[in-house]
Amino acid sequence: MPIQVKIFDTYEQISQTAADLVSEVIHQKPACVLGLATGSSPLGLYRELVRRYEKKELDFSLVHTFNLDEYFPIDPDNPQSYRYFMNQNLFKHINIPLENTHVPHGNDEDIEAVCQNYEKMLARSGGVDIQILGIGGNGHIAFNEPAEAFADQTHQVDLEESTIKANSRFFASEAEVPRKAITMGIGSIMKAKKILLIANGAVKAKAIQACVEGPISPACPASALRFHPDVTILADREAAKLLSR
Ligand code: F6R
Repeated sequence: MPIQVKIFDTYEQISQTAADLVSEVIHQKPACVLGLATGSSPLGLYRELVRRYEKKELDFSLVHTFNLDEYFPIDPDNPQSYRYFMNQNLFKHINIPLENTHVPHGNDEDIEAVCQNYEKMLARSGGVDIQILGIGGNGHIAFNEPAEAFADQTHQVDLEESTIKANSRFFASEAEVPRKAITMGIGSIMKAKKILLIANGAVKAKAIQACVEGPISPACPASALRFHPDVTILADREAAKLLSR
C-alpha cells in the first residue's frame, strides 16, 4: 500500500490525530510496544497523551517503549540527552514504569554491545506496534543520515555536519554536540507494524517530497518507508507543499 499522506491546517490537529492513532493501539492492546522519537515534531503528541492520561482516558501501566536513538557519548541526566528529553516530556507525567522504557545507553563503554543488546531487547519485546517518526530536512529518520546504503540494525553513526549544526541550538555551543549517536537502523524501524511520521513546517517540504515521490534511495533514508505496508504521514500544508498530488 502506498504511503498515506494526511494534510492538516495546524500542528494542533496533527498532534490530536497522532494521539488518536496511538490511543487506539493502547486501547486495543494495553501491553503494546510504542516506538518513540525525540525532537520537536512529536512534542504536541506527547502533550496530548499526557492530557488524556490525566483525564483517565489512557493507562500506560503495561506499555513498553523503545526510542529510536541517543547521542554518544552522553549521560542520561544531561538535559540534552534523549533519555532526559523523554523523561521530561512524557514518562514522568504518565504511569509508565520507567523500567518499561528503553532509550539506547549513551554512556556505556562498549557502544557495539549497546547496539546489539538493543536489537535483542526489541526482538524480545515482540516488536513495535506503532512507531512515531520525525524527519530531518535532509530526509534522515532517526539518526540514519543520507548514505550509500540503507542501514539495517541498530548501529553507531558519525553525525553529519548539517545535523550537528541543526542540533547545536540545544547546546551551549556547537563544540558540545556529541559527534556520534546510536540509532535504530532502517531495517529495525521497518519491522514496526505501523508507522506514523509527523512533519510540520516548510523546512520539511523537500524531505517529504523526496520521501513520497522521489526515487527510493539511501540518499533519502525516509524513502525506504515506501517498502512498508502501513505508513501514514501527518503533515501540515507547508510540509506537504511540494507534493504533486
Ligand atoms: C529524533 C530523531 C530525529 C528527528 C528529526 C526531526 O529521535 O530520530 O530523526 O525526528 O531530526 O527533528 P525535529 O522533530 O526536531 O524537526
